[in-house]
Amino acid sequence: MKRIAVLTSGGDCSGMNAAIRAVVRAGLSNNLEVVGIQKGFQGLIDRHGEVLTTKSVSSKLQVGGTFLQSARCLKMLQEPGQQLAAENLQAMAIDGLVVIGGDGSHRGALAMQRLGIPVVAIPASIDNDIPFTDMSLGVDTALNNIIHAVDNLKDTASSHDRTFVVETMGRNCGYLALVSAIACGAEYALIPESSYDLDAICENLQRRFKEGRDNSIIMVAEGAGKAQNIADQIKDRIGFETRIMVLGHYQRGGSPSSFDRLLAARFGVNAVATLLQGNSGKMLGLSCGAIVLTNLEEAIGAGRRPIDENLLRLAATLGI
Ligand code: F6P
Repeated sequence: MKRIAVLTSGGDCSGMNAAIRAVVRAGLSNNLEVVGIQKGFQGLIDRHGEVLTTKSVSSKLQVGGTFLQSARCLKMLQEPGQQLAAENLQAMAIDGLVVIGGDGSHRGALAMQRLGIPVVAIPASIDNDIPFTDMSLGVDTALNNIIHAVDNLKDTASSHDRTFVVETMGRNCGYLALVSAIACGAEYALIPESSYDLDAICENLQRRFKEGRDNSIIMVAEGAGKAQNIADQIKDRIGFETRIMVLGHYQRGGSPSSFDRLLAARFGVNAVATLLQGNSGKMLGLSCGAIVLTNLEEAIGAGRRPIDENLLRLAATLGI
């Protein structure tokens, strides 16, 4: 193996730059040339890559987003696009590919593997919905972003006896809303995995304020409802002037946390080591603190990672 490539694909997250850096440094330590592909799989289709050096990745570790840029590439869903991407990798004399991204990106990775390019995938998505890893890259930083925002919000909420509905990302997965509710001491976490009763919530909000509580925070994952809609319903039912905060893409940016920096380093170095061992068609994961490998086919076939029942129980015990 002489030359490998690395790309970031799908929604960006903090820690991607740190992972690229780790791949480049691990590659160079093993006398490999490392090519950075621009804009995810689109860059493979356009044959848009350049050789990366330690200088190319200098001072990138602490920066959010991805300097290689990312894209959601529809052409990679079809056979002609996949074929072209694999041909371009061969034309660029790439012996192995590291794909950093979420489940959609892993499908592209598997397509390349099936077309004869050895691939290792790194799970990266703030949703934490990728199976066979306790944590995906970017999740911890996103949680810290949410916590920072909600802590600030509580100051103003309690100054005005207010209820706030805070919308987190998570189209199909309530992980961010649930964990941030636990970490911020919120009253509710409305998530796509569980149903909720707005009448009961309203009753409880009224009781809380009668007891003299000066604020209530309801976390809602985007897949469980729109913050504005929930706030309007609360106003209609009990007349509370409820405010909202939609965190949106704010959650995805910012300097990676120490956890994400370390995870990125471990994932990046292990991805290169896996390719060098002649192992491929794998996704890396974190399991009970150790880096583990799962067949990409199995990871994709398993669908979304279900919400952790222990977290649900923890939240329930805490009154969320
Ligand atoms: O998959 C990660 C994610 O951040 C989801 O939580 C969110 O619904 C989606 O990406 C937003 O995607 P886009 O950046 O394309 O709007």
